[in-house]
Amino acid sequence: MRTCAEYGAWPVGAEYYALTGRRRPRPDCIKFTQGVGIIDLEFSAQEMRAMADQVVARCVDHIATLPSQPLYGVHNAEALCLSMRESSPASGTPLAALLDDLFMTYIPQSFNTPSPGYLAYIPGGGLFPAALADFIADTTNRYTGIWQAAPALVQLEANALQWLGEWMGFPAGTRGVFTTGGSMATFNAVLCAREQYLGPDIRRGVLYTSDQAHHCVIKAAKLAGIMPDRVRSIPCDAQFHLPVQALREAIAQDRSSGLLPFMVVSNAGTTNTGAVDPLNAIADECAAEQLWHHVDGAYGAFFQLCSDTHEVLRGIERADSLTLDPHKGMFMPYGTGALLVRNGAALRAAHGATADYLPDMPSAAEFYDPSQHGPDLSRGFPGLRMWLTIKLYGADAFRAAIDEKRVLALDAAARVARLPHVVMDAPPELSLFPFHLTWPGATLVQEDAATRELMAATSQRGRVMISGAVAGGRYVGRVCVLSFRTHAVQIDHLVADLASAITEVVARHRV
Ligand SMILES: Cc1ncc(COP(=O)(O)O)c(C=O)c1O
Repeated sequence: MRTCAEYGAWPVGAEYYALTGRRRPRPDCIKFTQGVGIIDLEFSAQEMRAMADQVVARCVDHIATLPSQPLYGVHNAEALCLSMRESSPASGTPLAALLDDLFMTYIPQSFNTPSPGYLAYIPGGGLFPAALADFIADTTNRYTGIWQAAPALVQLEANALQWLGEWMGFPAGTRGVFTTGGSMATFNAVLCAREQYLGPDIRRGVLYTSDQAHHCVIKAAKLAGIMPDRVRSIPCDAQFHLPVQALREAIAQDRSSGLLPFMVVSNAGTTNTGAVDPLNAIADECAAEQLWHHVDGAYGAFFQLCSDTHEVLRGIERADSLTLDPHKGMFMPYGTGALLVRNGAALRAAHGATADYLPDMPSAAEFYDPSQHGPDLSRGFPGLRMWLTIKLYGADAFRAAIDEKRVLALDAAARVARLPHVVMDAPPELSLFPFHLTWPGATLVQEDAATRELMAATSQRGRVMISGAVAGGRYVGRVCVLSFRTHAVQIDHLVADLASAITEVVARHRV
């Protein structure tokens, strides 16, 4: 039997079995307990251990080889996806065969987001203890939607939320909720603000943000009943910040038209360029105008833990609500977002509800009940991955890691700025910086094309992956340092690969 590796592109489905010589799964791979109408889906203790061992072995090997796995693994995705379509299987497949498909074929067909060289978009994390927490949560499968069903477990979640609040400088009385990500956190924030400021008069409400805001803001607003024609995307200044004067003018104009300004969403680190809006000045403005101030800290809020970024983030602690994405700045696996709301009662007011079939609610002041702070009732147990991971490492480890990302980004920016033909479009306010290529006589169109090519040519060298964006009317390349696996060696690779790619790309474009 040949191994899959000998085939280059991984075969799938029937082809997989034909080429590898593996036996097709037999229908009896799941054992049925004898008896009329009884099926036992449980595995024996020995089988469970054997299955878990197989999975853990694959996962640990996967992590160990991450740096040598391709950063950009998507090839012939259309053909692969078409070949994967199948009707629902009537009988089972052995775990080993499923793991082969996953680890040899499907997982490699992806951006290698947990790789140390991943400096594209906003890098994610994937701390191993969080996976263990998920395993515990899924195997014990307790009900953490309501406090009464698992009070101690829910308290762990409440603790983790409280720690986030403390790290962000939020006061006692803050409440929050874990979400699947920043988008859903922002949705909950808009809902809270809408309930508090507009009541039933939703249609006249207007939300303000910058033209650099993440697109989840407009989606979140729509989900919360604030239609796109009531969202003002205010053009940013040359450094990609929301200009307070323009915000003030937009609010005044809407008020004079009989509309109801109710909310500002500012950025603690934009996705395009990493810009942090003047949070303190915007907080002043919101206080004066009596508007809800939400800060999107999905990318940047965890730099509150950094020793060096307090000034740039000043005012974040005054926000009415804050989007956090622990799957970014706390290196958790995807699916870990959070919302903090300074006035916990406002979050409860937006989501509080009960029903005849539910037990009596605990005292809201004393005990946290997830279903009273967000739209979900039944759900997974996101608090466990946060709690276990924070307890295991301790907060200082996160402080040190985020400090390191900041130092690496500053070093990367200083070295990239010295490369020929590079223009820095903004400094790294946190750990992300944008830049573009130029040369004497270059037009904007040529600069855009060359910068776009530079991102691809650098990534094709295979040691780092970077991505670009359109910001301020041009295409910018960008580097974002946020993976816990990224260290100085990856910055060396970045600078070296950018340097050689620049020579190649500029030579091509100058002729
Ligand atoms: C600044 C910012 N806000 C919000 C989001 C949306 O977060 P999520 O993808 O977790 O829903 C992102 C995602 O990258 C982001 O970068």
